[in-house]
Amino acid sequence: MRVLVTGGAGYIGSHTLLELMAQGHEVCVLDNYSNATPEVLNRVRSLSNGTVTDFTGDVRDPAMLDEVMQNFRPDAVIHFAGLKAVGESEEKPLVYYDVNVGGTLALLHAMDRVNCRKIIFSSSATVYGEPVYLPYDEAHPTAPMSVYGQSKLMAENILTNWAKATPDASSVLLRYFNPVGAHHSSRIGEDPKDIPNNLMPFIAQVAVGKRDALTVFGDDYDTPDGTGLRDYIHVVDLARAHVAALNYAENATGARPFNIGTGQSYSVRDMVAAFERACGHTIPTKLAPRRAGDIAAMQADATRASQELGWNAEHGLDDMTASTWAWQSANPNGYDS
Ligand code: NAD
Ligand code: UFG
Repeated sequence: MRVLVTGGAGYIGSHTLLELMAQGHEVCVLDNYSNATPEVLNRVRSLSNGTVTDFTGDVRDPAMLDEVMQNFRPDAVIHFAGLKAVGESEEKPLVYYDVNVGGTLALLHAMDRVNCRKIIFSSSATVYGEPVYLPYDEAHPTAPMSVYGQSKLMAENILTNWAKATPDASSVLLRYFNPVGAHHSSRIGEDPKDIPNNLMPFIAQVAVGKRDALTVFGDDYDTPDGTGLRDYIHVVDLARAHVAALNYAENATGARPFNIGTGQSYSVRDMVAAFERACGHTIPTKLAPRRAGDIAAMQADATRASQELGWNAEHGLDDMTASTWAWQSANPNGYDS
């Protein structure tokens, strides 16, 4: 298929490009590089030995979208372009709604103008909010606790209504759990621009000597070691879930959410211990109070993705930490290395 990948120069998008090309799909990227660098696509091209058409522009810009659609004529779109920092979303709610909701709306309008009917959307486990039960299945109530989560749920609702009202349309809503890890080549990986918000890139920067110590946000949760539990998923498994979703969308109509996680959860202390095994030295930590808005535990029931997409996570915890360490140590300054 011809697949337009918005936000394709980002962390998850870049890994997905490689998996799409490996399966023979033709790809085109639209990215405004607000959280990425064009160097990513150079590396994707050299790793795949393939063609990546790219456009620099904003997913909210109708004229830009029309130019991309007219030139590339996609059969399907994978929509990664968006903002993802939970804390920042509370400070800049309008920016988050504009990009995450407005961007999705503009994209659907542009797809309508060229009769493109298939879309895979980057949603998040954060749409569920405080667990009523765990593991979360897709029928779990949705009650996001941040502006970021609200913006993802609003976009899901728009995509659901669009798919219902549009003949032959399919919206596949992938609710990611916690993506970590890097491509086995160590040439692409996660490269946060500022201080990392997330656990794994922070640990990696401590391990490589860029930061002194990891701050553990709370050890008084109702979990076995008191620290937060999350369902971490290797980014290459997550990338493959998009290929599976694309195959599904080809013959599907309507909208359908899918949890994309492993069904296993690990604590902050588990992640530190696993990273220490990978890098061979101690990761200094210091304890701080709980981070506002954090919940104790999250875990996916990914049965639906297994049964309906034929997708299952294949990489375990040691693959996640080893690949992160290989990427971080080979590229201590990310794509500027
Ligand atoms: P990322 O920031 O690395 O990638 C997003 C890409 O979109 C970047 O290349 C950025 O430059 C681009 N972009 C942002 N705004 C844009 C705009 N207005 N127009 C065009 N391009 C734009 O993030 P990621 O981790 O790869 O996440 C991809 C998607 O998955 C996001 O929508 C994110 O909300 C969602 N998601 C991420 C996580 C996670 O923990 N990484 C978890 C759940 C969901
Ligand atoms: N943590 C620390 N220290 C840090 C960073 C994180 O102790 O420096 C802890 C957190 O308190 C939490 C765990 O590590 O217990 C994971 O935190 P992350 O920030 O890595 O991930 P979150 O689960 O908070 O959120 C992430 C993304 C969201 C996405 C969600 C999906 O940031 O965008 O996963 O599950 F929606």
